[in-house]
Amino acid sequence: MSHKTLFVTNALPYANGPIHLGHMLEHIQSDIYVRFQRAVGNEVYYVCGDDCHGTPVMIKAQNLGISPEQLVEQARKSHLEDLQGFLVEYDNFYSTHTPENREISCDMYKKCREEGYITTRTISQLYDPKKQMFLPDRFVKGICPKCGAPDQYGDNCEVCGATYSPTELKDPYSAISGEKPVLRESEHYFFDLPKAEEFLHDFIRHSSVLGQEMSNKLEEWFKEGLKPWDISRDAPYFGFEIPDTEHKYFYVWMDAPIGYLASLKAYCQQHGLEFAPFTDPHSPVEMCHFIGKDILYFHSLFWPGMLHACGMKLPSHIFVHGYVTVNGAKMSKSKGTFIKASTFLKYQRAESLRYYFASKLSSQVVDVDLSLDDYMAKINSDIVGKVVNLASRNSGFIHKKFAGMLSSVPGNPQLLNEIARTREAVIRGYDSRNYHEAIKAIMQLADEANRYIDREAPWILAKEPAQSEHLQQVCSDGLNLFRALVTFLSPVMPQLAAKAAEFLNCKLDFATVHEPLTAHKINEFEPLYRRIEKKDIEQMIEASKEDLKAATPHSTHAQATGTDTEFEPLESEITIDDFAKIDLRVGTILEAQAVEGSAKLIKMQIDLGFEKRQIIGGLKTAYGDPASLIGRQVIVVANLKPRQMKFGLSAGMVTAAGPGGTQIFLLAPDSGAQNGMRVH
Ligand code: 2FM
Ligand code: ZN
Repeated sequence: MSHKTLFVTNALPYANGPIHLGHMLEHIQSDIYVRFQRAVGNEVYYVCGDDCHGTPVMIKAQNLGISPEQLVEQARKSHLEDLQGFLVEYDNFYSTHTPENREISCDMYKKCREEGYITTRTISQLYDPKKQMFLPDRFVKGICPKCGAPDQYGDNCEVCGATYSPTELKDPYSAISGEKPVLRESEHYFFDLPKAEEFLHDFIRHSSVLGQEMSNKLEEWFKEGLKPWDISRDAPYFGFEIPDTEHKYFYVWMDAPIGYLASLKAYCQQHGLEFAPFTDPHSPVEMCHFIGKDILYFHSLFWPGMLHACGMKLPSHIFVHGYVTVNGAKMSKSKGTFIKASTFLKYQRAESLRYYFASKLSSQVVDVDLSLDDYMAKINSDIVGKVVNLASRNSGFIHKKFAGMLSSVPGNPQLLNEIARTREAVIRGYDSRNYHEAIKAIMQLADEANRYIDREAPWILAKEPAQSEHLQQVCSDGLNLFRALVTFLSPVMPQLAAKAAEFLNCKLDFATVHEPLTAHKINEFEPLYRRIEKKDIEQMIEASKEDLKAATPHSTHAQATGTDTEFEPLESEITIDDFAKIDLRVGTILEAQAVEGSAKLIKMQIDLGFEKRQIIGGLKTAYGDPASLIGRQVIVVANLKPRQMKFGLSAGMVTAAGPGGTQIFLLAPDSGAQNGMRVH
């Protein structure tokens, strides 16, 4: 294989949500690709980072009472920790809110403007008069104009699947303040995509940048005709201000892919490398993007359109994958199958998921199902039963009978020749991203190796002194085959490979894997992999139900939303007398202030008619500014045992619906109710 230089990227996760198994498919897919390319001698630069800008991050930071900069830094740290936990090793995991990204974004914008690609137009958009801001589609909710379902987002209905514009919603309201939005005009900046249409059409048809399936998808979009792309947003917005404008910001999707370059540029600066070859259209560097099918439009039209306008290097490959399903269905919070990366890592070994995904990944854009029973069976049978077992069943004899020394000649050279043949299939599989084919070839070799050991039965040979030499050869063959298996698996299971290399006392190398180790001393064998037990999986599902109850990602990424209707299970039945024990009273919030040192708590003085009470409640994540609560009537659990908290006494509880986080909805009586009235 000739030497190549690759610049590999993975889609940048949004900073406002946790990394979950939907994201992990892609990070694992790209990491395997990179490790493989390096293993066969190619030079790879591999970067990622957080996608930080936009309204959701701004609002989430406000709700948490921190700055967006603080929020994105926290997110970056926790995302990086999750990724490292999954053995995904980026050269740089950066962020889009960086000086490098600002500089490249502004430069590219100016270049696009110089080349006549930037136009302006006044548009009407829904505006929240209370929050004084324009509302992105996902922040307007209302009744679906097609099916009448309530509480649907401004861009599409999750009940009937219709797409529409937010102005078509019936009885719209702002998802931020609850206020009725009004239409307002504002000047917006556009990237003139139609101007690049001919070029893009040519680029997609005549380059190998996309596979056939995705090129066909693009043909549909070309048939519909490309439209100018709105790249500006009005203040308040968390992002970069557009040069030579007042209070106009780049739309998050404008600077997100530029974040790939910014991450690489920072890496180059840290390592004294030249950055220019990565953007120079004439350099041999191949730019490869791994993405999900939902963001194809951005990567195959907007992104190359901008790069073309700027005369910069275009993507060489856009590798598209499908979604993750769990047990055959969309990931679901209520079923506990919306699994966060960090939760998975508490109960499972990262390499198990890497192996399972690899065994299913192909170059086709199809969804990958994580069937948890199949996952457990596959790890236990393939990795524990076939691969690791091969080492454990042979190493004992080598240590006991031959002082850890492998034979000086192989016992079955013919079988060892299979290693070279398998290598061809493995390389083809990884290189074409048909990882499932690579895994299939590896497991075929594992089966052959185990059949050979079964046939030769070293435990019987060990009883016959005359067979001693043969025994050493058979077990050495077994270990040489094991070495080949872990070498081939090393892009997928780097930790297992590293431990195996220590045990085998050698380097694992694709180039020399077919040359058996002879007269070579190995180290003591230590257990390399543990079986997965059903209870590990059950606990992970339970934990996922728990820790995602309060999470409410606002994201346009189809997988990140993970929306499904959730109902908490009913409590066990009670009698009317049980209910009567709970003394619920109407009260009015007289004062409310944030509790210093807490991101969630608000301290309230509440008038219950017959007395005033101090109650401390976790309302800040949902209500933000405590002042917005003053004057509201609420329902209070008035006979709850008072609690002495670090921040003061809390004498009762304010009732609210919802799972927590930003989803907390205070209960209130109809007008006319008096403070102190009991709720029956
Ligand atoms: O869909 C998403 O999750 C986006 N944050 C991906 C951005 S990829 C790149 F363009 F930055
Ligand atoms: Zn609908």
